[in-house]
Amino acid sequence: MHTLLSGTRFRHIVSTDQFNNVQVLNELFEAVDHVQTLSATERLSLLPHKLLATIFFEPSTRTRLSFETAMYRLGGQVISSESAGISSSGTKGETIEDTIRTLGAYADAIVLRHPERGSVAKAAEVSSVPVINAGDGAGEHPTQALLDLYTLSTHLGRSLHGKTIALVGDLLYGRTVHSFIKLLSLYKHVRIILVSPRELKIPSEYKPSEVAWEEVDNFSAIGDQVDALYVTRIQKERFLDQSTYTKLQRSYVVNKATLKILKPNGIIMHPLPRVGEISPEVDTDPRAMYFEQIRNGVFVRMALLQWLLSDV
Ligand code: NCD
Repeated sequence: MHTLLSGTRFRHIVSTDQFNNVQVLNELFEAVDHVQTLSATERLSLLPHKLLATIFFEPSTRTRLSFETAMYRLGGQVISSESAGISSSGTKGETIEDTIRTLGAYADAIVLRHPERGSVAKAAEVSSVPVINAGDGAGEHPTQALLDLYTLSTHLGRSLHGKTIALVGDLLYGRTVHSFIKLLSLYKHVRIILVSPRELKIPSEYKPSEVAWEEVDNFSAIGDQVDALYVTRIQKERFLDQSTYTKLQRSYVVNKATLKILKPNGIIMHPLPRVGEISPEVDTDPRAMYFEQIRNGVFVRMALLQWLLSDV
């Protein structure tokens, strides 16, 4: 039996706060590298007889399907409630706690996405099996941030020493950014530039700590300084007032003109989905990494599932 991650053990993955040192991240990334060296047959022997439940109360393409891909590719199986917001007993008024107790009677781990911030932590408290946060409203999205960091550090060097990373777009509601900033703050020699309209600034509890950082609203002024541009979607579904969304939705657009000012080795990332903030004309540029993020996501989730579920 291969063990992808043998040292650190977590019961649940709720927040990137849990990944509170670079060593544990390096251990994870070694496991991610390792799983990529295995053959498809070897991977199938990693989690046989394990069952994963995915339950998503909000839309998803990548997160749910990449967890399910990872589980099947490790030899496990999956049960899925993909439109739980309209089809689960939650619509009858069942609490998230009771839903999770139910899934814990069926599966060995649960991947949960829910619109309410803090809901996944609540679920983990009552769960008899590991719970993984696949996005809790405008809170966090830890596994996305881990795959983002894996991709970033694969290109910029694992130490990220002296690197400048710009996070662009909806920093108020963007949960991937909230989780990502916590991880980046562990690297003492990075510089973070937060680029957002005034209305969508980072909430105080997610501000970077112990690293150099600044806030700006003008994206073109910093384009030539960054080693990575992490672009996000303005989170339409979180706005109470759609006219504010309409006003802000085109705040930043990465296009051919951006490519001209970006450093030759500066990379462009996005958790996806994009809705206009990166033009398709950027896709064939070698610095565009958002499709690579998708591929890495499966391997990162394989390592995490094995970490949580392996018997050895
Ligand atoms: C993100 C999410 O759901 O938070 N998507 C994802 O999981 N890759 C980003 C977004 O929806 O904008």
